[in-house]
Amino acid sequence: MTTTGRHVVLVGMMGSGKSTVGNQLARALGRPFVDTDARLEADTGRSVAALISDEGEASFRRREAEVVRSVLADATPAVVATGGGAVIDPDNRAAMTVAGLVVWLRAHPEELAVRVASGPDRPLLGDDPMVALTRLTEDRDRWYQEVADVVIDTDGHTPDEVVARVAAVLSEEVVG
Ligand code: S3P
Repeated sequence: MTTTGRHVVLVGMMGSGKSTVGNQLARALGRPFVDTDARLEADTGRSVAALISDEGEASFRRREAEVVRSVLADATPAVVATGGGAVIDPDNRAAMTVAGLVVWLRAHPEELAVRVASGPDRPLLGDDPMVALTRLTEDRDRWYQEVADVVIDTDGHTPDEVVARVAAVLSEEVVG
């Protein structure tokens, strides 16, 4: 396993810390940081929440897949934070494992619920985020597991601690 010339791809549920950790990690590694949700919002001029509410989840997933694959096809090695549902699509999963070293930021639904409470609007969580996060975690864990080269447990840890942990694991590899 090596990260030379490859992207570091962060996967995990919403609230797992991908954007915060990814930003800091990119700075520590001297790499560009790309957040696929932010890229999609910049490309369309609309928020992810608005895209899902107005066009439906299936349309959002098609747009998300285009962005994920275009970002991963970029030859400049970056740290890439993916939307929590990007792993649903088998072609996205294949692109992640080919183009990157994949790091799963894992957290339990109880902790995710606390973290998403203060974040942006997430239409997929509905009226009861705890129920939705539990169901989504059950659905998706096998896909996160499938793509992950590295699994980092984030429960009870600050973003700084998670960044340090990921950087330590990566430094055991050749980071180019
Ligand atoms: C989603 C996660 C969100 C965003 C969208 C759908 C999901 O990204 O892509 O709201 O299905 O888990 P974050 O994981 O960055 O919150």
